[in-house]
Amino acid sequence: MTRPAGLPATHPEPGLPERVTIYEVGARDGLQNEATAIPTDVKEQFVRRLLAAGLPVVEATSFVHPRWVPQLADAAELMGLLGDDGLDCPVLVPNERGLDRALDLGLRHVAVFASATETFAQRNLNRSYDEQWAMFEPVVSRALAAGADVRGYVSMCFGDPWEGAVPLEQVVEAGRHLLDLGCTQLSLGDTIGVGTAGHVGALVAAFVEAGVGVDRLALHFHDTYGQALSNVQAGLRAGVTTYDASAGGLGGCPYAESATGNLATEDLVWLLDGLGIEHGVDLSSLVATSTWMADVLGRPSPSAVVRALG
Ligand code: HMG
Ligand code: MG
Repeated sequence: MTRPAGLPATHPEPGLPERVTIYEVGARDGLQNEATAIPTDVKEQFVRRLLAAGLPVVEATSFVHPRWVPQLADAAELMGLLGDDGLDCPVLVPNERGLDRALDLGLRHVAVFASATETFAQRNLNRSYDEQWAMFEPVVSRALAAGADVRGYVSMCFGDPWEGAVPLEQVVEAGRHLLDLGCTQLSLGDTIGVGTAGHVGALVAAFVEAGVGVDRLALHFHDTYGQALSNVQAGLRAGVTTYDASAGGLGGCPYAESATGNLATEDLVWLLDGLGIEHGVDLSSLVATSTWMADVLGRPSPSAVVRALG
């Protein structure tokens, strides 16, 4: 079905941002957990189609240990195929080895990924909570010295499958570590999708109280419990203007079993269109891309908007 003319109707809510940045993570967070091997040229086409759909930031892959995330073991090949067109795409790097691999290819937008909890730090990074900062310190300082910018992810911001509730102060402390190292932006991850709207408002307020401006925050929701869009609405009300999302709702984290798909980019675009918030993304091209990717993966997209329009 094509998009019904004039829909969604636009009804701005006073006080919300006029424009947001959608930070597309489908090619990285979306594909890192796939059971089937996806050929590198299909990933290349995926990234190119996402860029062509107008997504302003398209995270492409991770330079992690290939044994830890075999699905992204082709990171260098992918960036080679993308050539100059991939130079603006951010990539994940956990350590100096990953940074070297990215810098060698001329990449200048990298992200480190920290955990707010002890258990996930050990499971995802093979480091304790405290040890992770020592691993990131030379990554961030060397990246900045090389002229790169560094995003800092914090995982398990809204709850942890092993440790349960995660206090707001613990998340703020983890975020502070990353900012103190020199990260330019913080992405607060609801890795297992357990957050709810009031929690989002409280967490953003806790950061603001600690002196971190909302302009330095991004929100990264997984949709495990169907709360992602409601959480975005709470983020918008709190003034956050960057949202991570994954085309077609692909995604999950291989080291957090209860992590399912990310907030679908199409569902986010529908909400923003209804609120009259600018984002620059062409919904039809995006839906066509996710429909094509669903065919490649052999299963329907979990995104309600892709299913309605695809
Ligand atoms: P380790 O085994 O402790 O690594 O893994 P090490 O430093 O002990 O090194 C062991 C060997 O691995 C060495 O080789 C290194 O060279 C090599 P050897 O000398 O023995 O021959 N090595 C590497 N090779 C290639 N690239 C590298 C690399 N690093 C070491 N970068 C490590 C530690 C951090 C590397 C590992 O735990 C890892 O790769 N973890 C990545 C896990 C991951 O990618 N998880 C998913 C992303 S996070 C996420 O999805 C959450 C997020 O979406 C937000 C949210 O939802 O909350 C971001
Ligand atoms: Mg994630």
